[in-house]
Amino acid sequence: MKQILVLLLLLSISTTHGQNRIGTGAVERLYEQYCLSCHGPDLGGGLGGSLLDRSSWKEVGQSVSFLEYVREGNLDAGMPSFKDALSNKEIRSLEIYIDEMSQKARREKTPVVRKTGNRYEAGGYRFEVETVIEGLDTPWSIYFFSPSHALITEKPGDLRIWKNGRLGPPVQGLPTVLAKRQGGLMEVAAHPEYEQNGWIYLGFSAAADNARDPDAYMTKVVLGRLNGNQWVDEEVIFEVPESFHTPRGVHFGTRFVFQDGYLFFSIGDRGVQDQAQDLSRPNGKIHRIHDDGRIPEDNPFVDKSGAYKSIWTYGNRNPQGLDAHPVTGAIYSTEHGPRGGDETNLIEKGLNYGWPVITHGMNYSGTPITDKTAAPGMEQPLLHWTPSIAVCGIDFYEGDVFPEWKHDLFVGGLASQELHRLQIDGDTVTDHEIILKGEGRVRDVASGPDGYLYLVLNRPDKVVRLVPVQ
Ligand code: HEC
Repeated sequence: MKQILVLLLLLSISTTHGQNRIGTGAVERLYEQYCLSCHGPDLGGGLGGSLLDRSSWKEVGQSVSFLEYVREGNLDAGMPSFKDALSNKEIRSLEIYIDEMSQKARREKTPVVRKTGNRYEAGGYRFEVETVIEGLDTPWSIYFFSPSHALITEKPGDLRIWKNGRLGPPVQGLPTVLAKRQGGLMEVAAHPEYEQNGWIYLGFSAAADNARDPDAYMTKVVLGRLNGNQWVDEEVIFEVPESFHTPRGVHFGTRFVFQDGYLFFSIGDRGVQDQAQDLSRPNGKIHRIHDDGRIPEDNPFVDKSGAYKSIWTYGNRNPQGLDAHPVTGAIYSTEHGPRGGDETNLIEKGLNYGWPVITHGMNYSGTPITDKTAAPGMEQPLLHWTPSIAVCGIDFYEGDVFPEWKHDLFVGGLASQELHRLQIDGDTVTDHEIILKGEGRVRDVASGPDGYLYLVLNRPDKVVRLVPVQ
């Protein structure tokens, strides 16, 4: 019985995202034990002031950091020192908890989006959400050939062709996918010179051929062609040795960007966080290979002994959004954080994005990971979300239907069911707003060839587009 309970607990920890845990767990107990008596059960204040509005704080953020302030206290004013009672990590987890509770309090007062009936108002437009494709099972990614012709992956392992308003049956002859937990058939994209070579790329999780452990799996990339509804001419473009497979069911990454004959793709840390810093391992990385699978000679770690040669960047927890800026070509990612610390990053050759040495988040259980949010030699995100939105697919908008949004980055959230619009200038996010919420888990975002902005949603499973209205 006890074992079953522990198992259930573990399952719920690993499948429920941080969003649902706001204000709970070990950190809540820390707050109750050490802070509640003066700052109140809802953080609204008492003997000490309200903790819900950072802008009202007098010292933290001006002369001292949160960590320094809580360590040393302000004895004259009645704020005790906690340096003997709490570790730096615990104090950091309290700061994340305060950020969570502040957002929760703000959202209870002000709605997240402006919506009247079915009509949203955001980003300078009024728009509605129009259903385009239904009848899907957990769609993960969409690739458009034209406004009326697209490929869609379904996580359980099927690829579907959508043409002239009709969704075809599953494509036959696809590679064997091990669809379990977060794994399955994920990414699909055609080669930029598809007209000439007919190549389509798939990213998915799979066990090794004749695997010793049939439950162990890993991200894999193949290319192939479509002959009607038949998958043909398959070639493996990327797979790792079986020693790097694991039965852990989380963090596969698996998004593609094509650029100048290269394929960039992501692999999450596969649930072993420290391996994201280990250059001899493929997980927790963004990779770069030639579009036929060869390793580029100018990859950053090709000459480093023991390093995995396809690595482009490391210290990436679980990048499930990847896209290149349509003008500058710079590559951006979104990365799932733990509880807090979802990120948008500018991805550049050879850099270390810090996970898990630095992070703006903590464990789902409310225990700390680290007190470090920055360190020399490790990149800061351009933007981070605390609490997490469960950040997922992204796309730069390239259409003309919403001219004001041209070249903005659209970012989907799963647990939060949000769509965020980021205006980006190089390594700076100059503006950020939530433009849609509550339509479903936003798995992927695609700027459609007809100029509309498309979303791949889970629960309900469908593809929708945003349509402006007067
Ligand atoms: C014995 C009462 C007491 C306890 C317990 C207490 N505080 Fe305070 N706290 C205060 C008072 C009083 C102030 C206001 C100090 C001032 O006016 O400068 C304060 C201020 C603060 C501020 C605002 C700092 C600023 O720049 O204005 C923060 C943040 C804070 N406390 C965090 C905490 C945390 C975290 C805990 C628990 C680990 C905690 N406090 C426990 C009394 C307390």
